[in-house]
Amino acid sequence: MKNIVVLVSGGGTNLQALIDTQNRGEIKNGRITCVISSKPDAYALKRAENNGIPTRIIPRKEYPDALSYSKKLLEALNEEKADLIVLAGFMTILDEIVTKAYQYRIINVHPSLIPAFCGKGYYGLKVHEAVLEYGVKLTGATVHFVNEEADAGAIILQGAVPVENEDTPEILQKRVMEQVEWKLLPKAVALFCENKIEIRNNKAYVKTEEKQ
Ligand code: GAR
Repeated sequence: MKNIVVLVSGGGTNLQALIDTQNRGEIKNGRITCVISSKPDAYALKRAENNGIPTRIIPRKEYPDALSYSKKLLEALNEEKADLIVLAGFMTILDEIVTKAYQYRIINVHPSLIPAFCGKGYYGLKVHEAVLEYGVKLTGATVHFVNEEADAGAIILQGAVPVENEDTPEILQKRVMEQVEWKLLPKAVALFCENKIEIRNNKAYVKTEEKQ
């Protein structure tokens, strides 16, 4: 059974999708053992508590830089004996002391079709604002492994949704979450726990049935 530690900063709807998937018995060989928040008032903490999942708060604002924060986080992840770390709306860039220690064991969900609208400064609603500003007709979300560069690790799953003429950032965010994020993040976590993701030449591939 793999220990899944979920890192959050906000509302936690992606965490909720993971909890619901776990409660339906669809994450075989893994369970969420801890939720860590970078913000003391994140609603995601309440979602974890409602489901009897232990929580920890490591406030980002109490640390002067990414390195000192990451050191504290690394300590907690090691104590929790994390096998998989899931960034579910975690709004803090991790230093490489964490990404190197947990190479190919950290999964993030990003609300665009990477490599578009990603990297430093693109997070949450800002991504959807940029998508509307540019005028692209398709957007979506990407689930990927986390490496030293923001939003640049190996892509595991992607899904697309149309951008409609009347969209606001909020409406578009909701469509991307409902149709892609809440489905693909739990799916990638389940695949990881069943050892169904393989890495070749720094790229991630979901193993096909025949190959197993
Ligand atoms: C989600 O849309 C997630 O993809 C995004 O923030 C939102 C968090 O919502 N993450 C990023 O932008 C990370 N770069 P949630 O707290 O309700 O899951």
